[in-house]
Amino acid sequence: MDMMMLVQGACCSNQWLAAVLLSLCCLLPSCLPGGQSMDFPGAAVDNLVVRKGDTAVLRCFLEDGASKGAWLNRSSIIFAGEDKWSVDPRVSIATANRREYSLQIQDVDVTDDGPYTCSVQTQHTPRTMQVHLIVQVSPKIYHISTDIVVNEGSNVTLACLATGKPEPSISWRHISPSAKPFESGQYLDIYGITRDQTGDYECSAENDVSVPDVRKVKVTVNFAPTIQELKSSGVMLGGNGLIRCEGAGVPTPVFEWYKGERKLINGQQGITIKNYNTRSLLTVTNVTEEHFGNYTCVAANKLGLTNASLPLN
Ligand SMILES: *[C@@H]1O[C@H](CO)[C@@H](O)[C@H](O)[C@H]1NC(C)=O
Ligand SMILES: *[C@@H]1O[C@H](CO)[C@@H](O)[C@H](O)[C@H]1NC(C)=O
Ligand SMILES: *[C@@H]1O[C@H](CO)[C@@H](O)[C@H](O)[C@H]1NC(C)=O
Ligand SMILES: *[C@@H]1O[C@H](CO)[C@@H](O)[C@H](O)[C@H]1NC(C)=O
Ligand SMILES: *[C@@H]1O[C@H](CO)[C@@H](O)[C@H](O)[C@H]1NC(C)=O
Repeated sequence: MDMMMLVQGACCSNQWLAAVLLSLCCLLPSCLPGGQSMDFPGAAVDNLVVRKGDTAVLRCFLEDGASKGAWLNRSSIIFAGEDKWSVDPRVSIATANRREYSLQIQDVDVTDDGPYTCSVQTQHTPRTMQVHLIVQVSPKIYHISTDIVVNEGSNVTLACLATGKPEPSISWRHISPSAKPFESGQYLDIYGITRDQTGDYECSAENDVSVPDVRKVKVTVNFAPTIQELKSSGVMLGGNGLIRCEGAGVPTPVFEWYKGERKLINGQQGITIKNYNTRSLLTVTNVTEEHFGNYTCVAANKLGLTNASLPLN
């Protein structure tokens, strides 16, 4: 509502209110050319910090039970005496006693942030008090990259966007056994990702209003298989032999065994093959001369294959 209109509208019915409003002009930037504020003698400015959703009580006290007060939100009148000018159902006057004339705002929102003025009728000039309502909002991550699967060597960018007031600070952490330090920023760039950089990445949005909002992105780094170890236990004729093939690879490699050029099949010629995530065990029961030869373990996934060989004799 326009200030001068209010002043004129109020003047005839409500002399004191007109006086109040005119005096407020000195306080409100909107009334002054250039929009600057002016110091008002005796006007106290307080900050009241509340969280979004909470109830704010902006304290103000009358001179005595007979004096009147008014509350303004910027240049709009919310209350004039007991008359509610605002249509907002969230605002009311809290009166614990005859002198109290506090403004209560329920379910505070970010749009309520700003200066509020309480003006109290006195014998002479109205006494004015300003409360600056500061609305804080808990950090909330509203966008985070989805889980991704990439090939080793790729460039990866993870995004984490959050809202909050004050603006939350964003940091990233790679959750790994060797707890890596935090990196700050909405975007985490990983150039030429390596297999060690696989795992969960945690984004944390913090602004001290409440606990940080934390979310995770899972990054899976695919890489072609490698065979790290191929070993046989001592083999004796008539006894049992074991060859162990240790591999690595993402996705989990598939293992195959060859003797020379011939593919070995589980359960044939006294040979048992057992595959686990990253290893394959080949067991020969009752070793005969025919079992001697060159054994090859092949590990394969969609990114490639590798092999390693070992003579059994
Ligand atoms: C205060 O004024 C702002 C801007 O006009 C408005 O969005 C907000 O709802 C008002 N709050 C109260 C409590 O009157
Ligand atoms: C990764 O980024 C670097 C630097 O921007 C660039 O030189 C390189 O070609 C990129 N690699 C891939 C696989 O896109
Ligand atoms: C091991 O193989 C030999 C030759 O085929 C056979 O004579 C022997 O009975 C086998 N031993 C066992 C314990 O199966
Ligand atoms: C064993 O087989 C592999 C693969 O077929 C071959 O590269 C290697 O030379 C062979 N080793 C021996 C000792 O025959
Ligand atoms: C093992 O690898 C070599 C060279 O990479 C290849 O020539 C050979 O065919 C492979 N052997 C098997 C059994 O896959």
